[in-house]
Amino acid sequence: MKILNVAGARPNFMKLAPLIRRMQRHPDISSVLVHTGQHYDANMAGQFFRDLELPTPYASLNVGPGSHASQTAEVMKRLEPLLEETRPDLVLVVGDVNSTLAAALTAAKLHIPVAHVEAGLRSRDRTMPEEINRLLTDAIATYLFVTEESGRENLLREGVDAGRIHFVGNVMIDALEDFRPLWEGSGIHRKLGLRRGQYGVVTLHRPSNVDDTRRLRDLIDALRRVACEVPIVFPVHPRTRNRLTELNGSAPAFGLEAESATESATGLVCVEPLGYPDFMALVAGARLVLTDSGGLQEETTALGVPCLTLRDNTERPVTVTDGTNRVIGTCPARIVEEAFDVLQNPRAAPSRPPLWDGKAAERIVTILARLGGANDGH
Ligand code: UD1
Repeated sequence: MKILNVAGARPNFMKLAPLIRRMQRHPDISSVLVHTGQHYDANMAGQFFRDLELPTPYASLNVGPGSHASQTAEVMKRLEPLLEETRPDLVLVVGDVNSTLAAALTAAKLHIPVAHVEAGLRSRDRTMPEEINRLLTDAIATYLFVTEESGRENLLREGVDAGRIHFVGNVMIDALEDFRPLWEGSGIHRKLGLRRGQYGVVTLHRPSNVDDTRRLRDLIDALRRVACEVPIVFPVHPRTRNRLTELNGSAPAFGLEAESATESATGLVCVEPLGYPDFMALVAGARLVLTDSGGLQEETTALGVPCLTLRDNTERPVTVTDGTNRVIGTCPARIVEEAFDVLQNPRAAPSRPPLWDGKAAERIVTILARLGGANDGH
């Protein structure tokens, strides 16, 4: 079975790494990786290939930035001839970024079966670009691999045939376990002058939070108030950096980046986007995480670290019911109140959600190989 895997943006890389590792070990599967180039900076893409031991891409489509329509269209235009030339038995896509939908759509139109890993998640908020990508990818994918029970329920409610849905667990957690020795060996705490369990981490990049100047200013003010209690590290996503530059008239000052910071970190400390090992080390040692990311809600749940989600909804409800996540919206007073509550009233971490055991990729690859074998028989 020839599988073509598609990676586009930062959150795709750690989901594909465990899958590709297991595909490479399977005798009946040959796999290649195509990188669309939706994310292209060294610190958003390049270093993830190195750290996560991803194979050199069979092809890089170099689509780069653009509006949603042009980015999606460019991936489709550049991927189509490649799929015609290589004719894989399956195209595998992960997550919910523009490259996910673009690749799924291109393959489906060429009658190439599509597998979607992390299917069925729904925020029910169609102003989120990812929600549109999720709905459309799932509508045309042949095989749907879900991370949590809500994914299966959502798909069934949308009329998807139960036979196409496989509840396999979460490949993001596989990456966390596969690369545990790597991130446990990170020197980021020393580098930033942080003590484990004595700092917070924040990430912000959703258009709804950072593209509106007033919302962004309010969020930063709230974070500064929390940072009076406990230092908060803020790896700044390029989209957010651009907006902060517009807001302040200059790029945010990146603090404590020197190789050997002698002082302890204080306040809100902006740093460049971090690689996977440093970022996971930072999250694992944090007392509190504040975020609008999807994946980070899952990683904090798996690590037992309290997470405050600065959004009005989540497509990952299991992180609330079975995990450490609280969805608290974006009102500054509420953020400060909830953060202080987490700092003052630490709670025991619950056990992990079902099947978040580091074996999701193995399950997916076993199912795909079986399906490939079944198709050969026809
Ligand atoms: C994309 C995904 C989002 C995901 C996020 C993770 C979609 C619709 N959105 O959002 O789901 O959570 O990635 O990061 O697919 N930029 C750089 N260097 C890079 C990458 C981006 O400077 O390597 C800049 C772009 O030029 C652009 C901005 O960052 O100005 C946003 O990039 P884009 O890929 O369009 O969307 P994200 O906000 O990263």
